Amino acid sequence: MSIPVVIDTDPGVDDALALALALASPELSVRAVTTVAGNVDLTTGTANAGYLLRILAPSTAIRLAQGCAKPLARELVTAEEVHGSDGLAGITGHERWRRSRAETRDIPADAVDAIVEEVEASPEPVTVIALGPLTNVAAAVRRDPAAMRRAGAIVVMGGSLHARGNVTPHAEFNFYVDPEAADVVLASGVPVVVTPLDVTHQLAVSDETVESRLASLADSRGAFLGELIRRARAEQFTGRGGKLLLHDPAAVGTLLWPELFTMESHPLTVDGGDGDLRGAMRSAAVDEGSRMAAQVAVDVAADAVVSRIVERLVAGGGPG
Ligand code: BDR
Ligand code: CA
Repeated sequence: MSIPVVIDTDPGVDDALALALALASPELSVRAVTTVAGNVDLTTGTANAGYLLRILAPSTAIRLAQGCAKPLARELVTAEEVHGSDGLAGITGHERWRRSRAETRDIPADAVDAIVEEVEASPEPVTVIALGPLTNVAAAVRRDPAAMRRAGAIVVMGGSLHARGNVTPHAEFNFYVDPEAADVVLASGVPVVVTPLDVTHQLAVSDETVESRLASLADSRGAFLGELIRRARAEQFTGRGGKLLLHDPAAVGTLLWPELFTMESHPLTVDGGDGDLRGAMRSAAVDEGSRMAAQVAVDVAADAVVSRIVERLVAGGGPG
């Protein structure tokens, strides 16, 4: 039986690959995609999500909802220099994307309700996969904490435990953008699985055979994913030296192949200040209260995870 999931995302090159991975995985059943401001502004991210769902063509209808346009208590910081001004490595020259942008203008702005409703309504525990700043998920926890405790888990791409940050030396992007939201989620009492930079920095696509394998598939999905990876690598978006780092697919990977990740248990806090430590994640001291420990991925069988992700993307399909 597949795990019902809600994917909260700020697409994003690696978000797009994570969504493609989830939709290609029969172990998962994607019930809803919710968008949050992060890599790009909310309108652009929602247009990207609509476009991705169209291209990836899941076999069942998936609810799409847009959420928070800015962090809980701060101004938005975006990452166009990492993902391109359109969030998708410049792919938006396509006519199909422009049409999708027009069509997604009216997507309901009820992502927070959508998360709560999907978690509450499902007879099977729903896993929330959070691939952007945690604003929507934290708002859902605040809106209905009891309903959210029915979630199987909240699987988060974010933070760094020992690794250097990617926005500041201490902070990873998703936690830096909305540290208050990250802290709310980590204190929520819902089981949380964190996939930090310690692991995602080990997962890179650095070889052009991946994009050519995808591009040679006889469908628009393969052509799109091949071109996305080619553009992202060529522009060196999201990595260095022609590498494309698989941050968000890694979070999906912890659900698909937990045996390939080394996990540690840590009660976690996130620095909510404005100084050098803004957004820094750290393992809380035992005397810092009764915060439930999160499962943190600290190491990974990197070659195996990258090749499984690539094989899934190439195979495509899945029940949607
Ligand atoms: C995270 O930040 C975003 O730019 C990526 O999409 C990923 O979710 C990596 O730090
Ligand atoms: Ca993301």
